[in-house]
Amino acid sequence: EALEKEGFDHFMLKEIYEQPKTIKDAMRGRISSKDGKVWLRGVDEYANRFVRADRIIIVACGTSYHSALIGEYLIEELARINVEVEYASEFRYRNPILTERDIVIAISQSGETADTMAALHLAKERGALIYGIVNSVGSSIARLTDAGSYIHCGPEIGVASTKAFTGQVTVLTLMALNLAHRLSTISNTYYRTLLRELELIPGKVEEVLKQSEHIKYIASEIKDHNNALYLGRGYNFPVALEGALKLKEISYVHAEGYPAAEMKHGPIALIDENMPVIVTATNQSAYEKIVSNVQEVLARKGRVIAVVNNGETAIAEIADHVIHIPPTEEPFAPLLAVIPLQLLSYHIAVQLNRNVDQPRNLAKSVTVE
Ligand code: G6P
Repeated sequence: EALEKEGFDHFMLKEIYEQPKTIKDAMRGRISSKDGKVWLRGVDEYANRFVRADRIIIVACGTSYHSALIGEYLIEELARINVEVEYASEFRYRNPILTERDIVIAISQSGETADTMAALHLAKERGALIYGIVNSVGSSIARLTDAGSYIHCGPEIGVASTKAFTGQVTVLTLMALNLAHRLSTISNTYYRTLLRELELIPGKVEEVLKQSEHIKYIASEIKDHNNALYLGRGYNFPVALEGALKLKEISYVHAEGYPAAEMKHGPIALIDENMPVIVTATNQSAYEKIVSNVQEVLARKGRVIAVVNNGETAIAEIADHVIHIPPTEEPFAPLLAVIPLQLLSYHIAVQLNRNVDQPRNLAKSVTVE
């Protein structure tokens, strides 16, 4: 086992550090810089169904559900196709409206999650095209679907999903770009800018990973609190959900993710000096609004840990702790912003002596309904 961890203390840490490579692997052979095309075999094969689709419904559980939410933002913004995201377990039991003009995408690391499988069976019965975004090659979901794209991350051992999340988001990004190009929903210039930037992401993830020691220090400052609130807007809202899930899963600290603007409708009542608030504020849009969210937290003595772009000053000057990451195009923000949150929960869990790779009560893949 020590050999398999390649010198890292835990599989989770190893998998966090693999992300520059796994994101590259998810893109490999799928982008042609020469003619600016994005290839995704499953989408290319069923291109007619995709471009005529009334809507795309994405079903998933756990971390995969959070990448599905990012997929919704990406596909709606770039390709202008209606997207709905649903917990697989809810979808299958509520007699959803489905037609042959719908596409149902299942996202699953293991390809074996029972609720996700059941949701796909239902969608297939009703004639929808079913598509898988899966890590495990040859898994049940991969075999059941009409088409799909593997994320090519290699085996993920840590129960808390990390590299599979960024792999899923990478494939969803490629899908959104492929469809946007087909449907001419974004300008050629913007399309090329995005493609160029996407290829820089693995290098930028590498940069973020260099902050691990600094994040370890922040972890030591906040590890004894019983609660944490994660905030983000737009593309960073699902990142907040994922950050909170990571903390819950491996450190057993209660955490909630919220859209920053919703804070005033409830969570703000919880804020005092015992509430660390982790704000992901790398957005260019609605930036002023995020600054004022941070001020609201500080006015109530909450402790702010802010993830901001390199060079950002407004929030950096007032937050208790700051993690700087390289700026990127807004649709790619989650691929960078999730990394410090993965590291933060990792370091908190280690400092609390938790069983990082095999947290209590959780399973790597849930094959019961
Ligand atoms: C379990 C795992 C999570 C995972 C979820 C969905 O709860 O502990 O890490 O996100 O299942 O799994 P899947 O394999 O379908 O992505």
